[in-house]
Amino acid sequence: MTPFNKLPMEKVFRDPIHNYIHVADPLILELINTKEFQRLRRIKQLGTTSFTFHGAEHSRFGHSLGVYEITRRICDSFHRHYSIKNDPENGWDHQEKKIALCAALLHDIGHGPYSHTFESIFNTDHEQITVEIITSEQTEVNQILKQVSPDFPDQVASVIQKTYHNPQVVQLISSQVDADRMDYLLRDAYYTGTEYGSFDLTRILRVIRPYKNGITFHMNGMHAVEDYIVSRYQMYMQVYFHPVSRGMEVILDHLLKRAKILFREDPSYFKQQSQLIVPFLKNEFSLTDYLKLDDGILLANFTLWSEHPDAILSDLAKRFLNRKPLKSVAFNPETEKYLTELKGLIKKVGFDIEYYTAINSSFDLPYDFYHPAENRHRTQIELYQPDGTLIELSQASELVNALAGKTSGDQRFYFPKEMLASHQSDTYTLFEDKINAFNRYLKNGAIISD
Ligand code: NI
Repeated sequence: MTPFNKLPMEKVFRDPIHNYIHVADPLILELINTKEFQRLRRIKQLGTTSFTFHGAEHSRFGHSLGVYEITRRICDSFHRHYSIKNDPENGWDHQEKKIALCAALLHDIGHGPYSHTFESIFNTDHEQITVEIITSEQTEVNQILKQVSPDFPDQVASVIQKTYHNPQVVQLISSQVDADRMDYLLRDAYYTGTEYGSFDLTRILRVIRPYKNGITFHMNGMHAVEDYIVSRYQMYMQVYFHPVSRGMEVILDHLLKRAKILFREDPSYFKQQSQLIVPFLKNEFSLTDYLKLDDGILLANFTLWSEHPDAILSDLAKRFLNRKPLKSVAFNPETEKYLTELKGLIKKVGFDIEYYTAINSSFDLPYDFYHPAENRHRTQIELYQPDGTLIELSQASELVNALAGKTSGDQRFYFPKEMLASHQSDTYTLFEDKINAFNRYLKNGAIISD
């Protein structure tokens, strides 16, 4: 018998969203202490969004702990109220808690710096790397997971790949209302200082329940779920799709693209100055190479590149470091015809349009219901009615019905801010006519500048 004073203390992490994050299982603490997980402290959750909302400096470390904590609370509530012992058909098997917590904690472990842009330029895939970190024998994460059982790492990976046999566990980590989204909406709203993302998590955790094919919500909790859907919609429109953050993303995208092209022409500079980036410029990288990257590594390289003899590389590096986003206008199929003329004017002024213009589309589906015809449908949200039957959310909620199945977002044309210069501008006086013509186009084309 263990005397009371020898009982292991539960570890807590203080968190602005969840107050205390409770870690009772030593396995979870060991995973948090691995070098692969600690690396998430050095990767910002929202990438270029902090150029618009300066508070958004929070890391993927905090988010991952938050997803763990929400999952932990849901598992414990399921165990208390809906144990499989009382309801063998729809209940929750508490033996699944360990795997659910590990998958929640590790779901984003494969993210790298500025993932969104980095992935598109260097053909990396954070989901695939997440699975690799969990299953590769080289990682500390894998060594710790294997202590549970030899096949435990593969099982955790299968939750992330959505092939795990228990749909309740899969949907806790990945569905239209999952622990991941619940945490990032609240966390991102808090750190950006916006109110849109707030919803009543406590209420959602009270009305969520398991059933045989996944998770569902009590009918009387419908308004809390509605509120969550609306928050999600607002966060996408107001924060995630902000035109200025996207303008910085375009700069980053073009900067990395330029480095890749220069490397092909002459790798010697990068081999000397940017050793940690070389495997990616070469497109021959290992997991070890990937795990060395973080926001700081990229930014240090951009500082070096800002003095590179190539005018485009150094200019784009400076624009990124000093927050000089490209400007943008929204366009639609009708106004799209003006873009060719706008590009022509930008080219005449002397900008290389490959690097100084871009089209950026950001669209999201705030909520979707099941489409039998589609192969990759999303799990729809279902409400549990008093008679034990389920009803799909948009059938019950007029508010959600108004958003369901409709994409929201916009398509924007990005161009250098210098193109909006006034008559008095010294730098571009020579090109005054073109700049005036550009401005006339923006006005006459009835496309709104931002
Ligand atoms: Ni996540």
